[in-house]
Order: sequence, then C-alpha cells, then structure tokens
Amino acid sequence: MDKKWWKESVVYQIYPRSFCDSNGDGIGDIKGITSKMDYLKDLGIDVIWLSPVYESPNDDNGYDISDYQAIMKEFGTMEDFEEMLGAAHERGIKLVMDLVVNHTSDEHPWFVESRKSVDNPYRDYYIWRPAKDGKEPNNWGSCFSGPAWEFDEETQMYYLHLFSKKQPDLNWDNPKVRDEVFRMMNWWLDKGVDGFRMDVISLISKKPDLPDGVPGINGYASFNEPANGPHVHEYLQEMREKVLNRADTITVGECSGVTLEEAKKYARSDGKELNMVFQFEHMDVDADGSNKWSDKKMDLRDLKEVMSRWQKGLEDIAWNSLFWENHDQPRSVSRFGNDGEYREASAKMLATCLHMMQGTPYVYQGEELGMTNVPFGKIEDFRDLDSINAYHELTGKGVFSEEEMLRYLRYKSRDNARTPFQWDDGENAGFTTGTPWIMVNPNYKEVNAKEQLAREDSVLNYFRKLIRLRKEYEIIVYGTYDLLLPDSEEIYAYTRTLGDKRLLVVCNFSAGQVRYDAPEEFAGGEILIQNYGDACVGAGMELRPYEAVAVLA
Ligand code: GLC
Ligand code: CA
Repeated sequence: MDKKWWKESVVYQIYPRSFCDSNGDGIGDIKGITSKMDYLKDLGIDVIWLSPVYESPNDDNGYDISDYQAIMKEFGTMEDFEEMLGAAHERGIKLVMDLVVNHTSDEHPWFVESRKSVDNPYRDYYIWRPAKDGKEPNNWGSCFSGPAWEFDEETQMYYLHLFSKKQPDLNWDNPKVRDEVFRMMNWWLDKGVDGFRMDVISLISKKPDLPDGVPGINGYASFNEPANGPHVHEYLQEMREKVLNRADTITVGECSGVTLEEAKKYARSDGKELNMVFQFEHMDVDADGSNKWSDKKMDLRDLKEVMSRWQKGLEDIAWNSLFWENHDQPRSVSRFGNDGEYREASAKMLATCLHMMQGTPYVYQGEELGMTNVPFGKIEDFRDLDSINAYHELTGKGVFSEEEMLRYLRYKSRDNARTPFQWDDGENAGFTTGTPWIMVNPNYKEVNAKEQLAREDSVLNYFRKLIRLRKEYEIIVYGTYDLLLPDSEEIYAYTRTLGDKRLLVVCNFSAGQVRYDAPEEFAGGEILIQNYGDACVGAGMELRPYEAVAVLA
C-alpha cells in the first residue's frame, strides 16, 4: 500500500466566475474567493482546483488563454492572486491551477504571429494544413459544433481547433512548444502553486496523418478522435522530469476518450506521469449512444458496471479520481438523484456512494449544498458556447426541434453548473450586489449555504462529516473495493476491505422502499454515516427512498 497525501485529500473545484463577486460587477473574482477561504477551511477540504484565471477573451470562459502569466482583468490582479494563495496556504489548503495547453486563444501572441505567414517563426506552434479536395483536411468535428478546422484567408490554409475556432490547437510535436509550456509551468511552481489539473491532456499528441473518424449525428467525427495519441506518454514523462518533479505536486489529467488500459499509463503508480486522471465513462451512462443531447435516464446497472470496472482496474496499479460533477456537467442531484421531494436525501446518498469509493474525491462548488439544475426558459438564458452552438446546429439541421433541444439543454447543459453559488437567501443569493452574468437559480431562498450552515442535518454538514471521516478511517482511503448485487436496479452496494477490517456501503438510488439483506458480518456494526439517522443494518432491512448507510463490520 503506497501512501500519499494526495490520495488522502479531498479536492474542491472553484469556477471563479460564479463563486463570489467582491466588487458588484456581476462576475465572481479572486478577492471573492479569498473572502470565502474560511468557508472552505470549515468544509474540511485539502486542495482547491481553480478553473482558469488567466488573461482570456472569454470565448470559453477562460479556457481560451491569451497570456498564461497574467490574471484576467475581470478576476483581479496578480497581487490578488498571491493574496489568495497565501490565504489558502495559511489554512493548510493547497492550490491547483488549471493548465490549458492543448490549445491557446487565437488572441495569444503565438497565434497572432503564427497566422501571419507560412515562414513565421511561430508557424509551427500550431497545426496548419492545406485544403483537401477544396475542403477541410479531414472530417473531425469541434467539441462545440461544426468542423474542427478553420480556413484562414491570410495564408489560405486551415488550422485545427478541437474546441472553438478561438481555441487553436498547439503543436506539441514542436519541441519549442513543449519548452514554452514547461517554462510557464515552472514559473507557476516558483510562485508557490501546488499542482495542475490538465485540461484535455489526452488530446495533445495527434497522429501525423490526421486520419478521418466515424461521423456522429452532426456529420462530423468526434473531437476525441486524437485521444491517447502516439507521443502523449512521452510528452508527459518529459513534463514530469522537467517540471513536476521539482516540487511535491498533485496532478490530475482530464483525459477525454481515455480507456482503462491508457489510464494505467497516465496515472501509473511509479510516478513517471500524472497522479490520477479524470475518466468520463460514467458521464456517458445517460447519453444516447455517442450523443450527449438527450434526456434519457441512466440504468443504475450501467453506472455500477463502469464505476466498478475502474475501481478494480486501477487497483494497486494507478489511482482514481472520483467525481459526479464539474463545470462541464449538469448537477448530479438532478441527474442521478432526485431534485424534488428527495433532494436532500439523494444529495447525501450520492455523496456517500462516491466518497466511500477508492480514489481522491472532487467536490464541485455547490454540490455540497445539493444545488440543482436550473429552470432555464429560453435559449437566450444560456451563456455557454457549447450549449448555444449545439442548439443552433442541431435545430438548424432538423436533428431536433427547438422544444426538444431546450429540454435536453435543461437536463445536460454545462450552464446548469455555472449559475452563481448560493450563499444566502438575499438578493442574487448573496453572490453579487450587481447584475449576475448568468441567471441565479430561483431556488436559492430554499437552497443556500447560510441556511445549511445553521442546520445540523443539512447536506453541507453531511459533506463536512464525510470529509472528516476520510481523515479518521484509513479503510475509506486505502481499502479495496468489491461490488455486491451487480444486477440490482435500485441498490448500489459495495464493500471495502483493509487487512481484517471491512466496510459496507449501501445506497438506494430509487424513490421507493427496497428490501436489502446486509451480509451477516455487518449486522449491528458501527455506522460511520447515514442520511436518515436511524438505520438498522441487518438481514431484511428496508431501505427508504435514497437511503445511504456506511457501516463497519
Ligand atoms: C475541457 C474543459 C472545458 C473546456 C474544454 C476546452 O474539457 O473542462 O470546460 O471547454 O476543455 O478547453
Ligand atoms: Ca467581480
């Protein structure tokens, strides 16, 4: 058993634009985050993952960076950043930067140079190709609708952008690009940051011939086509040697399109690449084939199959990251739980189910309150370019009607996770004194931090307890995982084992009452946490709607 501090930690993700606005311009900012540092300390988290705060024209809310060593003006100054970092460190909280280096903004000086001429010194920093038969060089689609290629008048060639056309892909095969990135990362480490979450890092190495892929519902191949390319592991090992080994860092790679076999390399326990990866197979259990735009509900058996395959597959070889939510996903309580009558019970159940697994848990801002999806009315209510582009593309091509597409967006849009954090029941949920950049979820009077801090049985206090338990019971961090009842459509039950210690976790994913026969050894055991308060573990127990309980043998 290889003990590491980052395996024992809980990470909290902040989406700065929506966390806390300090100056009334309607946009969350760094001073706002600093002002809430005690809230985070009380929650008990160990690490903050900060979504991008770099200079950016904000085509994709900061994931399009025009200067990696400057702070976005709307978010504050470098002094504000340093103050925030100090405030975190004073409280024993580490800070992880979002490293977005598969692409830059088209307004980054490298790209401004690159597009000027074919012999510009920066030309080869990006991926340029001539037209093929008068069209795009291949059939890849952008993650945000349309083709992944943009024709540039200046030099009459196409550049690759797996995301928006304002996010041109860097050419990682160019050693100068890698050196620039590594130099920049070292600069941030020198400033004292503790690690990196690496944006779509699985996409950085493209096959040299850029082959076509299988087209999806909009006619283009997936942006994930280049995932796990020929040199990705070599480049990450180089990064490990030239940057990451200089400090005791925490690293997590966002690996779209990653398979279990590939993850074993990215997150290998010999420490040559990253500490852990984000995989997304469990985010596809409610997709309609390869199409995320649907309102299909998941089948619990699929979720258990995916989670268990990753739990067992990485055991002793690599390390899992555990998440239900992030800034790209809808709210988990609306998706996998129940955001009506059983909102609180199901939010606690989902948290129990996730935090008791093997891996490092990630909490996305507001998840600890059981924040829900948002009743967006019309397309104008959305801000996310992914949602807006998909709406126009798919209704335009007649794939879905406007009503259908709005229904899917209300269920799956990234904006569901991006509305302001609900601090209290005052105006704009206490997020801003101005006009928020995106609507506030109208349920803030009922769902907010102030109310939950004051109430012992709140979702927030439940998260605090879960986080505390992880520090007290080694089995929660290091125990091996084994699934029980793979065929149950309502119950997710599993055990953890460490030496002669055994832990049972039982979660009812349904709004009905379900009978469960707990294995004999756990009858009358020590209950670590439960969401109803009076569970009685044993054979023939009746699980109530969304009931969860974790019990030691
Ligand atoms: C990642 C980010 C997402 C962003 C995209 C492009 O998936 O999490 O928010 O839009 O990369 O940078
Ligand atoms: Ca502000």
